[in-house]
Amino acid sequence: MASSYWTGALAPVAQGRCPVLGHLPQLAASRSRFFDSLRPQGEVVQILLGSRPAFVLNSPGAVHESLTEKSRDLGKGLLFQTARPFMGNGIALSEGAFHRRQRRILQPGFHRARIAGYAPTMAALAEQTAESWHPGSVVQLDEEMRRLATRVILHVLFASSHEMPRDLAEMGEKVPAYLHVLTKGMFLHTVLPTRVAALPTRGRRRFFAAAATLRTLAERAVQHARIHAGDGDLLSLMLGRADVTTPVMTDEQARDELLTLLIAGAETTATTLSWALHVLSTDPRAQERIGAEARAVSLARDPGAPTPYTDRFLTEVLRLYQPNWLMMRRTACPTTIRSVRLPEGSELILSAAALHRDPVSFPDPLRFDPDRWLSRTERDLPRGAYIPFGAGNRKCIGDTFAWHEMRITLAAIMTRWRLHPVPRHRVRAVEHVQIRPNALPLRVTRHDSR
Ligand code: HEM
Repeated sequence: MASSYWTGALAPVAQGRCPVLGHLPQLAASRSRFFDSLRPQGEVVQILLGSRPAFVLNSPGAVHESLTEKSRDLGKGLLFQTARPFMGNGIALSEGAFHRRQRRILQPGFHRARIAGYAPTMAALAEQTAESWHPGSVVQLDEEMRRLATRVILHVLFASSHEMPRDLAEMGEKVPAYLHVLTKGMFLHTVLPTRVAALPTRGRRRFFAAAATLRTLAERAVQHARIHAGDGDLLSLMLGRADVTTPVMTDEQARDELLTLLIAGAETTATTLSWALHVLSTDPRAQERIGAEARAVSLARDPGAPTPYTDRFLTEVLRLYQPNWLMMRRTACPTTIRSVRLPEGSELILSAAALHRDPVSFPDPLRFDPDRWLSRTERDLPRGAYIPFGAGNRKCIGDTFAWHEMRITLAAIMTRWRLHPVPRHRVRAVEHVQIRPNALPLRVTRHDSR
């Protein structure tokens, strides 16, 4: 136990708690307003989810310390446990030596050079999506992005060298709809008292039924891949043989990693792209600039080609529309963060979305301004201030993958279409584990026919 634990301070309890419900009413009313209100109350503040205490890490310093120096004292915590029916013991949930081993096996699939090789497939899938729309029609772009992001992961990572097996294809169709069930279920299971969350409601039954269906499909896809060895895709990497007798992963481990990558990668990328398209629909000049940059290069052939405005735009989308408002950890031993005492078993809450709206790090934080990144890069910020992909040993394995996919998708859309908001539809933020638009119907017109 760290000696500083005994000399550490106690975290203050956040203002405004209600009897029995604690801070749940404030959380339910608006996550972002609640987190904004916690910021001035201390770097580490205790809140009550009903009767269950949790500690919110409010400052970039506290978040950075928890994700890096103190990462060995922390496990993944309550939020991630609730995802176990879907993701099993995949790398988003596993811990310690097993997590390091699994991450080492998967890492080659995410090397920069390898990802450059994925670009033509990413571009072909994005172009197929964009080509399927009709001029003047209203397209549900959030649904399109969810379908596209799922297909990209399945095609690029798991079926690159052979025809898509039936079970993988079926997963591709089911996952986009199930992602909602999952993120909503994870959030409710996390914040509601255990007894309430365990009630046999329709939502809970849907949550477990969706998880069971996906696990069965993933199991069948793994069995298929064992027989029809792919040529260098991630499934074959997972199932390859470390030596003649020991498989790299068992079927169960491969199933869990397949589902983890699909679930961790599809909703986050789709949500970020949806917010990007929402912002673009209100800013015709930004559409022109991204379209012009995309026409000047070929991201399918040269995914590293410079697109400076598009990059600033996406960096700003990931700041102001950061999809992950909720990350959690649990202390595996008594420890301190920013000299505040945290007993073993404490649930910690980190919100990238709240950090990205901190006026100290980002003046005028609610203004969407890609050009704020002209004078200041990520490196000029205090560590922990901008963490769209997390930090430390649990940093997103798919950050470069997602970055390429988002640039390529915006290029495919903006070289073909101009997007327009639909009158009388108000885009609202729905806050579960992620912050996503309620719905994103947009009218599309050919970019040269406005
Ligand atoms: C814009 C898109 C994305 C965002 C914003 C994002 C964000 C994040 C964040 C913040 C974490 C850290 C969670 C934590 O520390 O608790 C994370 C972890 C992870 N992400 Fe992503 N992600 C994105 C895309 C992807 C993609 C495309 C993939 C895979 C194809 C992926 C796979 C993963 C995995 C497997 C983890 C767990 C890593 C570990 O614990 O070792 N993500 N992501």
